[in-house]
Amino acid sequence: MKKRINCCIPYISTELKKTLAMSKIKLSENTIQTIKSICAEFQNREGELINVLHRVQQKLGYLPAEVQELIAKELHTSVAKVYGVVTFYSFFTMIPKGEFPISMCMGTACYVRGAEQVLNEFKRQLKVEVGQSTLDGKFSLNCLRCVGACGLAPVVMVGEKVYGRVAPAQVKKIIAEYRDASAAEPAKSA
Ligand code: FES
Repeated sequence: MKKRINCCIPYISTELKKTLAMSKIKLSENTIQTIKSICAEFQNREGELINVLHRVQQKLGYLPAEVQELIAKELHTSVAKVYGVVTFYSFFTMIPKGEFPISMCMGTACYVRGAEQVLNEFKRQLKVEVGQSTLDGKFSLNCLRCVGACGLAPVVMVGEKVYGRVAPAQVKKIIAEYRDASAAEPAKSA
């Protein structure tokens, strides 16, 4: 569950500043009030940081830089500390999921049957790395451990749909299935 031990960052490094700046978003007044009220529920106590982050991520889906800055302010702690906790635990994410989240199983059965090559093809086709989303927000790419369908290895999931015995040559077709589906959706009337 733990990614790496860096929860005690003494100052904001240049790399951290760059990461935070890149992922900046503008928070709506509504979102600001939601975050403030979650912090207040936990008495704005620094010791409740992990609980606050859980609740906020449940509401927003992810924890971008501006959200971390606001939580730091509300809990009277440093942005570096909040960032350290967010990056320490794998269940926290700073990246929004795509409309169609793609998960590649990298469990043993899938790995030995070529999951890495399939994953590389997804990266190549989507021009993203694992943990990133495409610029249009349609796809995000992640890895999973065994999803319990080893007989179908290598396995890819797009949202809830499972694709078995996937070869790199099929990747383009799988992506197109979702691109074409969303392009074909009729425009919603106002
Ligand atoms: S290892 Fe991939 S489904 Fe089991």
